[in-house]
Amino acid sequence: MRSKTAIKTDILSSEITPEADYINRRQFIYRSGQTAMCLCLPYQLALAGDAVDDAGLRQSPLVYSAAETPYRSNEKQTPFVDATSYNNFYEFGTDKSDPKRYASAMTISPWSVDISGEVEKPGRYHLEDIIRPHAFQERVYRLRCVEAWSMVIPWVGFPLADLLKRFSPTSKAKYVAFETLNRPSEMRGQRSRFGTIDWPYAEGLRIDEAMHPLTILAVGMYGKTLPNQNGAPLRLVVPWKYGFKSIKSITRIHLTEQQPATSWNLTAPNEYGFYSNVNPLVDHPRWSQATERRLPNSLFKPNRIKTLPFNGYAEQVASLYKGMDLTRYF
Ligand code: MTE
Repeated sequence: MRSKTAIKTDILSSEITPEADYINRRQFIYRSGQTAMCLCLPYQLALAGDAVDDAGLRQSPLVYSAAETPYRSNEKQTPFVDATSYNNFYEFGTDKSDPKRYASAMTISPWSVDISGEVEKPGRYHLEDIIRPHAFQERVYRLRCVEAWSMVIPWVGFPLADLLKRFSPTSKAKYVAFETLNRPSEMRGQRSRFGTIDWPYAEGLRIDEAMHPLTILAVGMYGKTLPNQNGAPLRLVVPWKYGFKSIKSITRIHLTEQQPATSWNLTAPNEYGFYSNVNPLVDHPRWSQATERRLPNSLFKPNRIKTLPFNGYAEQVASLYKGMDLTRYF
């Protein structure tokens, strides 16, 4: 399924990125993707870079060893500054600016992920054991939020299927459930008395959705490690579904026979379904889903575009839902 052909952009990263920054990022990518070295140092280097460089630099692409797939959007990428300052991460608050302001309180090293349920090799694994065997790929995907805004983001990650296969799912594994960190001491949204979500944030996929080659676990974006506000150190990206399915800062992956409960579905079952495939024909009860605001936008440049079925990935994924009434299974 996965091809690991190296593809090169026509701009060398070394030509457009300050050398020290370039080397730091390469160290991170090389070490975390290819060797058993501890992640802590490269993470620190990359995060130190975050503190000093700004939007322009962080958009600089790297030359990755990336899979040649049809899954690269050629649309204009959302500037890094917008993708990292307009966020949904309710653990840190409900304002779009809260995650950037407060997510630095989240400790991401050390980090472990529980793999449990219907797998032959359950256990609690260190992050480095989770990601080390995987060669990273860059995937430029559209991200369409259920709130009717969207972005185009270059993620760095690897197919979720490749990870799941390593832990040998049993024949009873029909769904995959995911959970985020539950740490009120570092997540001010979890301490709020006005919260609507029953923590931890939980999401889920059907096993065929989880195994689909478009579904990735991301460890980076724009050629750098994921900023905390975007779901460091490990998040899900499912580009044909509304953004809330792409759960951030994952600590648990549980394979199960039963469809798992999911946070937004529990919060408002008439508004958010389990499937949540992007669908311009099925409106949210409180707004239309026919169009979306492509960020960045403004009053004078609304940037409103038509929403595509399955967020433009129908060719790849529509067959997963053959025969299903998508107005019922929204
Ligand atoms: N994951 C967690 N743990 N908590 C959240 O509040 N919000 C979701 C999703 N993943 C969320 C989450 C929603 S609603 C969206 S649209 C995307 O993250 C936004 O991702 P971004 O902030 O990187 O654009």
